[in-house]
Amino acid sequence: MSSGGNTTTVYGGDEISAIILDPGSYNTRIGYAGDDFPKVTTSSFYGQVGNGKRIFGEDINVPRENCEIKPILKDSIITDWDAAIDQYKYYFEDTLKVDYKDQPVLITEPIWTELPYRQKLIETFYETFDFAGLYLAKAPTCISFQQGRPNCLVVDLGHDTVSVTPVIDGICLIKNSMRTNYGGRFLNDEIKDFVKSRDPKIAVEPTYKIKTKTPTVYPDPAEYTVKKTIPTTTESFNKFQQQRIWHEFKETALEVPERKLNSTNPQQALSIKEFYSQDSQKRLFEFPTGQSITLGLERFQFAESIFDPKIYKFSDENIAKAYPPNNGEIKISSHYNEYRPLKRIRKPESNQSTPAPGEGDDSSEKIRGLSHLITHTLSTIDIDLRASVAHNIIVTGGVSLIPQLIERLYNELSNSNPGLKIRLHAVGNSSERVNQAWIGGSVLASLGTFHQMWVTKHEYNEAGADRILNQRFR
Ligand SMILES: Nc1ncnc2c1ncn2[C@@H]1O[C@H](COP(=O)(O)OP(=O)(O)OP(=O)(O)O)[C@@H](O)[C@H]1O
Ligand SMILES: [Mg+2]
Repeated sequence: MSSGGNTTTVYGGDEISAIILDPGSYNTRIGYAGDDFPKVTTSSFYGQVGNGKRIFGEDINVPRENCEIKPILKDSIITDWDAAIDQYKYYFEDTLKVDYKDQPVLITEPIWTELPYRQKLIETFYETFDFAGLYLAKAPTCISFQQGRPNCLVVDLGHDTVSVTPVIDGICLIKNSMRTNYGGRFLNDEIKDFVKSRDPKIAVEPTYKIKTKTPTVYPDPAEYTVKKTIPTTTESFNKFQQQRIWHEFKETALEVPERKLNSTNPQQALSIKEFYSQDSQKRLFEFPTGQSITLGLERFQFAESIFDPKIYKFSDENIAKAYPPNNGEIKISSHYNEYRPLKRIRKPESNQSTPAPGEGDDSSEKIRGLSHLITHTLSTIDIDLRASVAHNIIVTGGVSLIPQLIERLYNELSNSNPGLKIRLHAVGNSSERVNQAWIGGSVLASLGTFHQMWVTKHEYNEAGADRILNQRFR
């Protein structure tokens, strides 16, 4: 590092490899700026053993006595700071051998972070880790960079959250953005609810317990034996291992139907359901016990709930309670004025209505599925920007990989926005898709002009967290 008292231009550029950290609710990604992929992709859950020691990564899947599995983040926000610090330290120091004095760090953040959280975040990285330089980048901004589309709409289907964010000139329009929890975790919960309520004869034993298995197909009972020598594990460990079954179920069996399943025309609804119940649409899902179940209409219904979250009715009330109606509004109080694109002047006589959140199409039911979220967001964007945003819709995040999702989304958006030319952009490579925010951060931090963007510890010490957040990390 060559600070030399100059507080703005610090890093010479090329010779410095910055660290990019992208903490997600499901996976955390860490690596070097300029790389195509993160060096580390690790679970955002950790294990805590009896003596308080924390374990990370693949190690958390090893059965141990008294090992509790806990989340580090919720809705892309760090909720367990001690564990987060421990985890980052572990990967920074043991895996990446980071030199805090010489390598700055770019951290992705969701658009719904609030002031005290951001203060804590930068304080931690400057003070606990002693990073010499830092940058906070909004995840949708990174995604827009990864695709080279400074004006776009970022639709991120993640684990805890689904979010829709307009990005203009690389900057997120937070007040026009929407967010729900109808993402990957929601699908896991539906699958769990479905399997557990269907028949107790479906044995949901996690892989680590199984010693031998013989393939069977439900309603035939599972035929397997369990290992005798495994340690007595905690409930949280067991649940975490069961989650891996729901993940696999979701990632292998689901498919988005071409047409809406809940058609308002009863005749049509019946024929659609018959179509998706045909034998040719059926798939088998094999549990770790070797027992398989046949999935027909169900595998389409789960995927449909991304578009129509009400379609699945939970049997277990406790799970249902975790998903109260949510129409997508983000309730965050921004402590500074929203970015306004400079070059455009509002036309006062514009007769295009821009419905306030809560008005419009589906609001009476207080639930917006994916297409509604996007259509609503588009309708709130300045009329002059709307066409270009509609033409640059980036669909990303792990859940966007469900087959036929992009096709169905395109059809729904085109139908409900007849005046707009809709274009969806989803990178074809699945690992690029799930790492897109990280990759965007990597691109951003290696731009020739980015060296001016790092905020040094010296600057932070001089100006304080509030000013840095307000002036440099908007
Ligand atoms: N092929 C696939 N089909 C369906 N779902 C998938 C697929 N691959 C990954 N997922 C799901 O995507 C989710 C993880 O996505 P992603 O990595 O974008 O989330 P995250 O960034 O960790 O979370 P968030 O953005 O909510 O903080 C998990 O629920 C995972 O099971
Ligand atoms: Mg994410």
